[in-house]
Amino acid sequence: MVQTLRSPVRGMLIDSRQRPLRDLRISVTDRCNFRCVYCMPKEVFGRDYKFMPSAQLLTFEEITRLARIFVAHGVKKIRLTGGEPLVRSDIEKLVAMLAQIEGLEDLALTTNGSLLARKARALKDAGLRRISVSLDALDNGIFQSMNDVGFPVEHVLEGIEAAAAAGLAPIKVNMVVKRSINRHCIVDMARYFHAAGHILRIIEFMDVGHTNGWNMDEVVPAAEVIALINAELPLEPFPPNYPGEVATRFRYKDGSGEVGVIASVTEPFCPSCTRARLSSDGKLFTCLFGIVGTDFRTPLRLGKSDEELSELLRSAWTVRADRYSEIRSSRTAALSKVEMSYIGG
Ligand code: GTP
Ligand code: 5AD
Ligand code: SF4
Ligand code: SF4
Repeated sequence: MVQTLRSPVRGMLIDSRQRPLRDLRISVTDRCNFRCVYCMPKEVFGRDYKFMPSAQLLTFEEITRLARIFVAHGVKKIRLTGGEPLVRSDIEKLVAMLAQIEGLEDLALTTNGSLLARKARALKDAGLRRISVSLDALDNGIFQSMNDVGFPVEHVLEGIEAAAAAGLAPIKVNMVVKRSINRHCIVDMARYFHAAGHILRIIEFMDVGHTNGWNMDEVVPAAEVIALINAELPLEPFPPNYPGEVATRFRYKDGSGEVGVIASVTEPFCPSCTRARLSSDGKLFTCLFGIVGTDFRTPLRLGKSDEELSELLRSAWTVRADRYSEIRSSRTAALSKVEMSYIGG
């Protein structure tokens, strides 16, 4: 009988739909200083909302140990998320620890930008490569009604410029659109970031979690977004940066810069989805719309070996069959899925 030899602590993992594990999104906290209406509505995430106690969060050492194991199994890119990742104290120390992992090709972070003016330099010095900043409007009134804590747009713009000055390039700006609130801001945003030389990406409002009151009428399809921009600033399609990129890219016909759309509702990209997500309390989710995750914190704290943790990862990834966005319906939208602020977008 022929036996296949395989190392228990190394080796690519392929799921049941032939998708390799390539990206790891690590949520470092479930807390955020914003209450974006599409993510952490105040009625749910109010003053008495119970966030995770700090003892339940993975420590930086625990995160780094798991990250090494994931990289040994094919992960090339790590992205830190939250909640808001920059509210976790000393986050640059974690960045420095992750930046040393051999075999990791890309280290990025997604932030709301509120603390970026203060943190950009330290993040860059620690080894962060790239940053994505969420910003839904340039109009201060609209932006404040979306972040719902009255945070002013100028501070986010200052954060973006501080990140650019620190060399965290290219900068991507993520704009979530809700038809009734900020559809009319799309062209202004495109003009501004075209001129500033940053990449704007417009995201379709998604039914993540079960508290954000999602409904299809509020989704502005990516095709509509592109038509709006193209009418003012002519565009042409542009190939993806890498296989499985979530954004569909367009280039400005004047030759300067690009814009992207993330059409996860109208044009799902599940067939090429290579992303795993680790929550701040150490659960692994193989889909953004997951309901249950695989607990890594308990085995970590019980002193399990790298081989045992590898085996847990292998068993979670190889059975993966997720394709939520392809099978979305009004029934699935109402399911009790984990929240975006917990799983990190
Ligand atoms: P790049 O490495 O720059 O391509 O980053 P990215 O686009 O993977 O990361 P980012 O955090 O900027 O993602 C932008 C948004 O795309 C996320 O916040 C989500 O809203 C959405 N998104 C990312 N990955 C997935 C996914 O696997 N499924 C779905 N449905 N949406 C996703
Ligand atoms: N739909 C689409 N994007 C969302 N984000 C948060 N909630 C939603 C949602 N319901 C985006 C944020 C940020 C990223 C982490 O996810 O704006 O850019
Ligand atoms: Fe915070 Fe980002 Fe959610 Fe807004 S989208 S509430 S900034 S985690
Ligand atoms: Fe991946 Fe799930 Fe998003 Fe599909 S819905 S692209 S499987 S995270």
